[in-house]
Amino acid sequence: MKNNILVVGGAGYIGSHMAMMLHENGYNPIVFDNLSTGHADAVSFCELFVGDIRSESDLNSFFSKYDIQVVIHFAALAYVGESVVDPEKYYQNNVSGSINLLEKMRKHALKKIVFSSSCATYGIPNELPLIESASQLPINPYGQTKLIFENMLKDYAKAYDLNSISLRYFNAAGCDRKGRLGERHNPETHLIPLVLAEALRVKEGGIPDETRLTIFGEHHSTADGSCVRDYVHVEDLCRAHLSAVQRLMNKNGEIGAEFYNLANGLGFSVLEVIESCRNVTKMPIKYRVQAAREGDPSALVGNSQLANRVLNWYPEYLSLDDIIKTAWDWMLSQVPVSDQDSY
Ligand code: UFG
Repeated sequence: MKNNILVVGGAGYIGSHMAMMLHENGYNPIVFDNLSTGHADAVSFCELFVGDIRSESDLNSFFSKYDIQVVIHFAALAYVGESVVDPEKYYQNNVSGSINLLEKMRKHALKKIVFSSSCATYGIPNELPLIESASQLPINPYGQTKLIFENMLKDYAKAYDLNSISLRYFNAAGCDRKGRLGERHNPETHLIPLVLAEALRVKEGGIPDETRLTIFGEHHSTADGSCVRDYVHVEDLCRAHLSAVQRLMNKNGEIGAEFYNLANGLGFSVLEVIESCRNVTKMPIKYRVQAAREGDPSALVGNSQLANRVLNWYPEYLSLDDIIKTAWDWMLSQVPVSDQDSY
């Protein structure tokens, strides 16, 4: 019989890619999602239970219906800027909701969880590339909520024998290589989809000089003055989760709380991302410069040697062009066929 894997937040960008990968690797993913930011049509290949982790009764109905082997927890609000303006929303969902989930797991003697954490737990790095033991001093409520849950997992491991693997993502990017799933945030705030949206606007006849793309700051302490980030392909991130699920299943009860960076170890500046988007799309992409965004570290690059060693995880996408091409192909596939004639 197939193992049932609960994918909480599985209708979102990374979660839906994960559910699909589980499905293709002989597991039975069951998605639990409140559809506040996720999309039901992104999980048409597996079961979807519409529920909210802040609701006890939703969680009770779910766990009384399904026998779950491992939980993967993606459900979180993830707009850094919004978390500064409306922190309560973030503490309610990312902390309070996650506590409810752990409580139901305890009640059902379910002791294995993979958690979507973030490099946002580190704050401003003292040294690059970041290693897992670097100090964690988040500079926004979003990062705080992720760190609080990481710390809970440590305490739950000691007190209740909960086994957890937290994966600290750097910048998730790209889409399913077969073009079946993509990145659909509303509003979109992430760099790569915004640069590609600008390329699409120009491709559809928009005037390059009327660009809607802005870059945040040109005086950061980096080689070209724009922020540097470590972009990791979404399928690579999902392969790490698959490996984490296997580790939790194989090492029955011997894990405790583990933490891994998921990064390529390669930093690309905002200007390099734009250049790569020009290469991939063949569009003249222009931009305006705005003041630096509050709370944006100049550079974030991660070291994933621990994940290499323990999870046997090595990212396959190392070229930024290759990552961006998957996102561009998906974006083009969303353009109605009638509008593609002019391409
Ligand atoms: N950027 C721009 N213009 C834009 C959007 C972004 O210049 O219109 C810049 C940002 O300043 C940043 C880089 O592009 O330097 C990447 O920005 P994203 O918003 O795509 O990603 P972030 O690095 O801000 O955020 C990501 C994840 C968060 C996570 C954070 C950790 O999306 O969930 O990394 O720092 F918390």
